[in-house]
Amino acid sequence: MARVVVTNPIPTAAVELLRSKHEVVVGDSETAQELPGLLGGADAVLTLITDRVDDAFLDAAGDQLRIVANVAVGYDNIDLAACARRGVLVTNTPTVLTDATADLAFCLLLMATRRCGEGERLIRSGALCEWGMDFMLGSSVQSRTLGIVGAGQIGRAVARRAIAFGMNIVYSARNELPADQTEELGARRCGLAELLATSDVVTLHCPYVPPGQADSTHHLIGASQLAAMKPTAYLINTARGAVVDEGALVAALADGTIAGAGLDVYEREPQVHPGLLGLENVVLLPHLGSATVETRTAMAHLAAQNVLSVLAGRDAVTPVSASAH
Ligand code: GLV
Repeated sequence: MARVVVTNPIPTAAVELLRSKHEVVVGDSETAQELPGLLGGADAVLTLITDRVDDAFLDAAGDQLRIVANVAVGYDNIDLAACARRGVLVTNTPTVLTDATADLAFCLLLMATRRCGEGERLIRSGALCEWGMDFMLGSSVQSRTLGIVGAGQIGRAVARRAIAFGMNIVYSARNELPADQTEELGARRCGLAELLATSDVVTLHCPYVPPGQADSTHHLIGASQLAAMKPTAYLINTARGAVVDEGALVAALADGTIAGAGLDVYEREPQVHPGLLGLENVVLLPHLGSATVETRTAMAHLAAQNVLSVLAGRDAVTPVSASAH
């Protein structure tokens, strides 16, 4: 029996699956201070994006640690180099959250372009909202161009939704999509500068890579990129907050450099830039991308499967690719 530490509560079925083979300890926000003690002697740890897995975390676990299974597709909370140095495998949960996250990105796209948050606030304020020919007009998406930054699984799932809404697709990515995907999406690859200048909605689906690392995406969208967008365009972010310079975004939304935005993630999460809170032309959600019962259950199950596989001496199901190290 190995020792598996789950840093925070996850769906019960995944904990039961782990318990069928191993000793399992589950932490919670009450025991957060005690986490280093809990980690001691762990052979495997299941982590959430709110856990910072660094040298101190790995030291607390000890040399026997074999796997860190992140219950998330992103893994910017994990120091991959520190894990690699100690021979600790890192896994994530791709694929199972693709649809939920793409749905939420499209939800933000529609909410921003059709002013849904603003309309809801108006009703809740008690104002009389009578139908009017020019009352709260938004912007149609049909025949408009969607610019997808990062054409991985989630970006492509957003593209499929956009096609159903009659949008045209351009994308920027390190590599050209294979021919069958290009054909399915009718998508054209272009550079970021062209994408920003031509898109009516720009949606971000790249990983967060900190400054100083190869292909860093830190502040990929800053003041000059926002200035390159059309004044009628919208920015959607369901990726990671720090891909966008939030201060520059506040300024661009306030002075009409762009028309609006829809955000599920924030640069200093869980803090939200106070400048965003007073703006009507931004929709703000609290990091709900994968937040459905079905998706979170599937994510926890996949993380548990990764742990069981590795502890049984088999390959991980979804290892973070070696190229990420
Ligand atoms: C959530 O943000 C994830 O990376 O799964």
